[in-house]
Formats: sequence, C-alpha cells, structure tokens
Amino acid sequence: ELGPYSHFMQKEIHEQPKALSDTIEAVLDAGFCPALFGDRADTVLRELEGVKILACGTSYYAGLTAKYWIESIAGVLCDVEIASEYRYREAWVHPKHLVVTISQSGETLDTMEALKYAKSKGHCAALSICNVAESAIPRASELVFYTRAGAEIGVASTKAFTTQLVALFTLAVTLGKLRGRVDAAAEAGYLEALRHLPGSVQHALNLEPQIKAWSERFAPKNDALFLGRGLHYPIALEGALKLKEISYIHAEAYPAGELKHGPLALVDQNMPVVVIAPNDALLEKVKSNMQEVRARGGELFVFADLDSHFSESEGVHVIRTPRHVGVLSAVVHAIPVQLLAYHVALARGTDVDKPRNLAKSVTVE
Ligand code: F6R
Repeated sequence: ELGPYSHFMQKEIHEQPKALSDTIEAVLDAGFCPALFGDRADTVLRELEGVKILACGTSYYAGLTAKYWIESIAGVLCDVEIASEYRYREAWVHPKHLVVTISQSGETLDTMEALKYAKSKGHCAALSICNVAESAIPRASELVFYTRAGAEIGVASTKAFTTQLVALFTLAVTLGKLRGRVDAAAEAGYLEALRHLPGSVQHALNLEPQIKAWSERFAPKNDALFLGRGLHYPIALEGALKLKEISYIHAEAYPAGELKHGPLALVDQNMPVVVIAPNDALLEKVKSNMQEVRARGGELFVFADLDSHFSESEGVHVIRTPRHVGVLSAVVHAIPVQLLAYHVALARGTDVDKPRNLAKSVTVE
C-alpha cells in the first residue's frame, strides 16, 4: 500500500500533484462557475454579502489563506474563525453571509456544531469544503465542493490542505466573476495558474533531498519560529503546526511584521527561524525582518523562489523553488514546510503517521 514510501505522510505529500490535478479537473473543464459548488449555488453566491469561514486545525489555516484571496480577488468581506470558539460565543450571524466550513473528514464535531449554531441563528446558506463524500458536514450544507485528495491516512493533514486551498481559490475567483471584478482575461490568467499548479508542486517536491539535509539541524532543537507575511503567513502557521504535531518540537508562527512586538525577544542562536519568503509584494519587508533576526544571532532557514534573489551567507540557509508562481504561491510553499516537518520527525524517531495523543478524526470535544 505504501509503495516506495516509508510512511503514509510521505506518500500523501507526494500524491499532491495528482490530488491537485484531480481537484482542478472540474474547474479547468467548466471555468470558474457557481455550478461547481452545487445546483443552488448560482443564487446563493450572487446574493451573499460576506463570507464566514469556520474550521479547525490545518483546515482553519486553509481558511486564513482564503481570506486573502476572497477579499482581494472577489472584493467580498471574509472572516475566519476557529469552530470551537465560534460555537460557544454569542456570535452575531449575518443572514446574508455564506457560512463556509472546511473539513477534510467532514466529521469534526466542533466544525459541525459551529455550522449548526450559525444555522440556528441566521438562516444563512452553508457551503462545505470536504474530502469525504456523504460525511456529516456536507450532508448538513446546501452547497458542497468535494476536494479530490483521495483517502488521507496519516494523521497530519497534507494533501487535503492543498486541495482545500484550490477549492477556496476557486470560490474566490467565482465570486469575483459574479461581481464583475474578474473579467475574461483575468479568468484566463487564473485558469492558467491552476493548470500549472501540479507541475509547480512537483518541482517543490523535488527539493526533498535539500530539505532532508536541513532536518539534521532542527532535530536537536527544542523550539522553532516560522515567519511569513500576507498569503504566506498562514503557510508559516501550517509549517509550525506540522512540526510540533509530528516532531514534538515546540514551534510558533508569526506574521513577520509582528516580530518586534514581542517574539524577537526569543531569538538567539538556539532558535532556528524558518521564513517563507517568495518574491511577492512583501518581500522587501520580509528581508528587513530577516535582518532583525540575524542581528540577534538567529539562524535563518529561508524558503524562497528563484525570483527572490537570496544568497546564502553565514547563518542564512536558502532553498528555492524554481520560479515564482504568483497568486498560488502559498499552495506551492505548503510543500517544503510539510517535508521539513516529515524529515525532522524521522530524524527524531517519532511515530510520523500516528503522533502521540492525536486522532485523525476528532469527533469528540
Ligand atoms: C493537522 C490536522 C488537524 C486537522 C483538524 C481538522 O495536521 O490534521 O489539525 O486539520 O483536526 O480536521 P478536519 O479537516 O477533518 O475537520
């Protein structure tokens, strides 16, 4: 079942080009159209005034990424909240907001209860982005987009995450089209970006030997810090979660601009700092944040792309993806942080597919 791989996590990381092409296929065939989200989607997506995303864990980080796309591409207000918080507060539910739940398993209790809570208060429509057909959450939602990642067995979510990102990107562009913010030329560009995505992800997977070489440096550490800005901040969060979950190294992620508001005090030579720094509009800002880290003796491990023009220097290690892929760069950069967590866990000898204290599907509180 594992083929050439040592663990399901490694296998599932490597299945991402296929999982992504399978998920993208329907979009490439149909273009960005409401029907991808169900028969009733046209009216719902046309009439909504905002999007409220509810999810847990890695799926929540997919939601955080989506906020950037939905607000910038569609011009639609988007708020993202952890399901277990939302369900227990007196939330104000806007009847014209679309509630979007994201769940690989479709059975996560907190996400399900958050959805029920929203429905009980607001009569709002709900869209489920889910990887398991006929599971509880899509059954309770009017609109559904099934990711086609295939069965995910490793406890740490990998291919489900990147396919969720594709689903959410598709939602953002579809909303942008319905609102007249995405014209035919822009749509063609977004389709082209999706078409190239599996290939770019394959290029990122090819970096595995270099990432494995880094893992030896992380294995003896107790802590790590992940930094990113904009669309790459949620990827930093995901990288920190993956690392703590399977290697048991304490890791935190911050938007790089927050460094000097507190976490910089943690930085010394014992704190490896991973930076997600592709060539986007915030690169110069990220570079100056990196200098702040270097000035305190922190060792930098930078995931960049060819266009970021980084060079290695004392205390600065760089791994580059072959090119900048624009709006979908966050999806491509999820791969190196998954591989880093995987190889650090291997180096530490932890149980990669079944990390201690965790379950694949969290159907209890
Ligand atoms: C982390 C991980 C978890 C899940 C979370 C939500 O690698 O897998 O954080 O993302 O438990 O699960 P789903 O998506 O099934 O609702």
